[in-house]
Amino acid sequence: MPFEKLFSPIKIRDLELKNRVVMSAMGTHESAESEDGKGVTDKLIAYHVARAKGGCGLNTIEVTSIDAASAPRGFLSIAEDKYIPGLRNLNDAVHAAGGKTCVQLWQGGLAVASDQTVQVLVPNDMPVSAEYTIPGITEERLYSIIDAFQTAAKRAVEAGFDCLEFHCAHNYLPHSMLSGGLNHRTDGWGGSFENRKKFPLACIRAIRESMPEGMPLLMRIGCHDDMLKGGLTLEDVIAFCKDAKEAGVDILNISRGNIVTDATIYEVAPVDIPKGFNVEDAARIRKETGMLTMPCGRINTPEYAEQILQEDKADLIVMARAQLADPDFCNKAQEGRLNDIRYCIGCNQGCYDYFVASLYDPNVKHITCMRNPALLEEEAWALKQTHTPKKVMVIGGGIAGIEAALDLKKTGNEPVIFEKENSLGGQFVLAGAAPGKSDFGYAAAKAAANVTDQGIEVHLNTEVTPGMIEEMHPDAVIISAGSVPIVPDIKGSGNEIVIKSHTLLEGREISGKTAVVIGGGLVGFECAEYLADKGIQADILEMKHEVLTELGQLRKIASQSSLAKLPITVHTDTVCKAIEGNKVIAQKEGKEISLQADLVIMAVGTKSTETTALQEVCQKLGIPAYLVGDAKKAPGMALNAIHDAYHTVLEINQ
Ligand SMILES: Cc1cc2nc3c(=O)[nH]c(=O)nc-3n(C[C@H](O)[C@H](O)[C@H](O)COP(=O)(O)O)c2cc1C
Ligand code: SF4
Repeated sequence: MPFEKLFSPIKIRDLELKNRVVMSAMGTHESAESEDGKGVTDKLIAYHVARAKGGCGLNTIEVTSIDAASAPRGFLSIAEDKYIPGLRNLNDAVHAAGGKTCVQLWQGGLAVASDQTVQVLVPNDMPVSAEYTIPGITEERLYSIIDAFQTAAKRAVEAGFDCLEFHCAHNYLPHSMLSGGLNHRTDGWGGSFENRKKFPLACIRAIRESMPEGMPLLMRIGCHDDMLKGGLTLEDVIAFCKDAKEAGVDILNISRGNIVTDATIYEVAPVDIPKGFNVEDAARIRKETGMLTMPCGRINTPEYAEQILQEDKADLIVMARAQLADPDFCNKAQEGRLNDIRYCIGCNQGCYDYFVASLYDPNVKHITCMRNPALLEEEAWALKQTHTPKKVMVIGGGIAGIEAALDLKKTGNEPVIFEKENSLGGQFVLAGAAPGKSDFGYAAAKAAANVTDQGIEVHLNTEVTPGMIEEMHPDAVIISAGSVPIVPDIKGSGNEIVIKSHTLLEGREISGKTAVVIGGGLVGFECAEYLADKGIQADILEMKHEVLTELGQLRKIASQSSLAKLPITVHTDTVCKAIEGNKVIAQKEGKEISLQADLVIMAVGTKSTETTALQEVCQKLGIPAYLVGDAKKAPGMALNAIHDAYHTVLEINQ
């Protein structure tokens, strides 16, 4: 059997899990659609059922507030009895689908501040402006939170959860009380490590008291603090976990990060952070505490998950976003359908970025996924077999075209892909060429291999002409022809040393010591990183005041911190005026600057590939033509291109 360890069962107290794959808690913001903004909805149930049907061993339900006064809207709550029926429905549905459930019991500390109507609880006074200081939590309130954990655990048992998780990570109140980097109290709950341990240990004991003997208790905890002076070390965490074990914790869910520093990046680590970055620390904690342990963080292939287990570094594996991207991840892996998995690429575009946006933008309802447009729309947007199979010409074999073709094939149509380059994958392959971003290339390669597996007809090195559409006369045409780089009208832009970003990332032979990259967007950065990797020092010129404007918070932090370590200099508010020999002349805040360059890379953006003639012939022949992604509007986000393609397939199948 492939992935023997990953798909072997495990018994913890009385709970039997069919495999070692755990979907850790992920806030979806879907509860905002419920009556009071904190309850279970049908969509949330369908989302969890899809993952249970897809073979997940344990579904953890997202952060769930245990205390009514500090329970924010848009997050689930278990702080009152009225939430029990909804949670029970969720449990019943997941159980009926063959899954098991865990709920993450949560007091959100500072993080609940997105809802200004609820109480923010922090260990000590925290000035947030000249006028306002968040008061430190009183002792009385600490006791009430301990009680709230106990009552919430009782409700969770009543609602039918198979196990419970105590959230003691990510800057929430229990972690904040435990960490010397966050807890500066001078009473009996602060100061020494012994004092700081008291609150989380009291919460654990309170939860345990409400649980049946045979039910396991998990604890999510960071392996150590980052960027917090006086924060928890790995040794502190090991010592605390030993006490937590005595207090009743069975399984450690090892995470990392806090929301008050750039270490927030480790909570939902983007592609820029190495895969499995918590694995070694988790293995050490496991060894020293003798506790069942599961690491989390960028473990997104079954091969890697199996390897961690084979190397005896963990007992279970958290695979969270992997299962957002593909609800059938486990079944596909277990059946050896590896090319068919839609791999999470760590872009954070649909999940984390949408989550943050959902807190402030009423138009963003819930999280989504770049690779899985049907996330949290599992029923309404399900792909169904078509009753009227169609021959569909897919023009452009980038990731959006590939996924459209795969979905068309899966639903009974006959797609044919035409790609003008000599391979499939488009911009995903280019993005994957930048150092540390190989997940993009891997996902594209797997999807392309799946095209072959599914027997989809592909024509490479083929630029579609109107005549070809006339000749083939398909039932529909998807134009996913992407975009082409813009070459700005700058004196010297035609010089030999000037190359386009795409050409560079495609692997063109280069030499020299210095380069100037014109354009400080993501592609410009990827080019600069690519050059740095080849030992070429790069200056990035950006006319705007800011760089990387298209990136979400976490990828931006990652890119900027990787920049600081590389021979790359960023010049904002800087306009390139001319390229003269090996010099780039630019204007920065009214002054002229001159930069030495053996190479100049144009990364100023893209425009849609010209497809008017193709659209016109479709119109003339009465063939429905659908423009998707960059071919419709450039430059665009990959998420939009893939989502466009998905909705086009739904429309074609109607
Ligand atoms: C949209 C989103 C919401 C999340 N919400 C939670 C949460 O409610 N509780 C939690 O402990 N971690 C949360 N996380 C972190 C995940 O549980 C997980 O630890 C993280 O995504 C890293 O694992 P992965 O690389 O397998 O995705 C969230 C992650 C995402 C993407
Ligand atoms: S949006 Fe990106 S990071 Fe998030 S689950 Fe999907 S592929 Fe992974």
